[in-house]
Amino acid sequence: MIRFEENFSLKAFNTFGVDAKARYFFEFTELEDLPVFLASFPDWEKVPLLVMGGGSNLLFTADFEGLVLHANIPGICQVKEDRNYVWVEVGAGEIWDRFVAWCVSQRFVGLENLSLIPGNVGSAPVQNIGAYGVEVCDLVDTVKGFDLKTFTDYEIPGAECRFGYRDSIFKHELKNRFIVTSVVFRLDKFAEYKLDYGDLKAEVERRGGENLNNIREAVIAIRESKLPDPERLGNAGSFFKNPVVANVVAEQLKSQFPAMPLYPAGEGKSKLAAGWLIDQCGWKGFRDGDAGVHEKQALVIVNHGKASGAELYALALKIQESVRKQFNVQLEPEVNILGS
Ligand code: EPU
Repeated sequence: MIRFEENFSLKAFNTFGVDAKARYFFEFTELEDLPVFLASFPDWEKVPLLVMGGGSNLLFTADFEGLVLHANIPGICQVKEDRNYVWVEVGAGEIWDRFVAWCVSQRFVGLENLSLIPGNVGSAPVQNIGAYGVEVCDLVDTVKGFDLKTFTDYEIPGAECRFGYRDSIFKHELKNRFIVTSVVFRLDKFAEYKLDYGDLKAEVERRGGENLNNIREAVIAIRESKLPDPERLGNAGSFFKNPVVANVVAEQLKSQFPAMPLYPAGEGKSKLAAGWLIDQCGWKGFRDGDAGVHEKQALVIVNHGKASGAELYALALKIQESVRKQFNVQLEPEVNILGS
């Protein structure tokens, strides 16, 4: 299937539900159609480009005056197996949580803590999605895609994707150059579960003990208790990253604010909880028109209906400024801002 549209509303293609338009929009379900389309549309190299997945991590602050490429390639296929592992190749267009549910139903271990994260499989390695003590980079074997510079398919081993906290090579050198078409995951048949984050273990026990189904259900319950469902309330999950600061800075803050949560973040560094910082500045549940801050998680900016991307972004800037004033900490957006 291919679809080409002009002046196309992206409202259904971003979880904030912002009604921004794309000058050009091209969606394809088979990779072969992409080079054919680009050859027929020579202007593509002259306009801004946006490679887009499920739109669960994007904020359009204005219309996008360029070409949006949306790889909606389906398919889940087991490609290899040994005594301990299975390798599964998944099309970029598969819905992430449906794939996680499939893994759990097959008894493949590894992704259950990442249940209910919105978005498509193709975005998972780009953003290096993570939750409840697991990051997807631990399970990515290979990322397959198409290089818009050389017009060839190529594969990048997980070890070369330069994965970091919500970061990868696809957000830097390969941004808008490499289109993820599928991801090969290496899943475990026997691995131990990771239940150390927060109250996950207690939630799993409450459901009768440790198994994949109970972990998935516990993660879903915890997420649903804190994070709004983008189908009902526009949002893009955490709007900011949790800031990573030098230990000396963290210790200074901790002595000033003893209740402040603090996590180790590698040698000499600590991670602060952006949600806590924002909450302390009094933003939780704030609303101005249709732009607001979620009442149960201050790190989540929400669209109550008709907020524009510019209004949501203006709120984000105010939040950023108040955290800087109160704690002298600079918050960096996790969400990709487009148009500013
Ligand atoms: N907190 C508050 N007030 C708030 C929000 C949080 O005091 O309004 C405190 C909590 O009590 C806790 C700490 O801040 O002590 C951390 O909060 P939480 O456990 O809810 O996790 P988070 O750090 O806010 C991160 C990820 C989430 C992920 C959860 C669980 C980032 C930016 N966010 O949130 O990821 O689901 O941990 O692993 O790393 C996302 O990336 O979109 C996302 C939702």
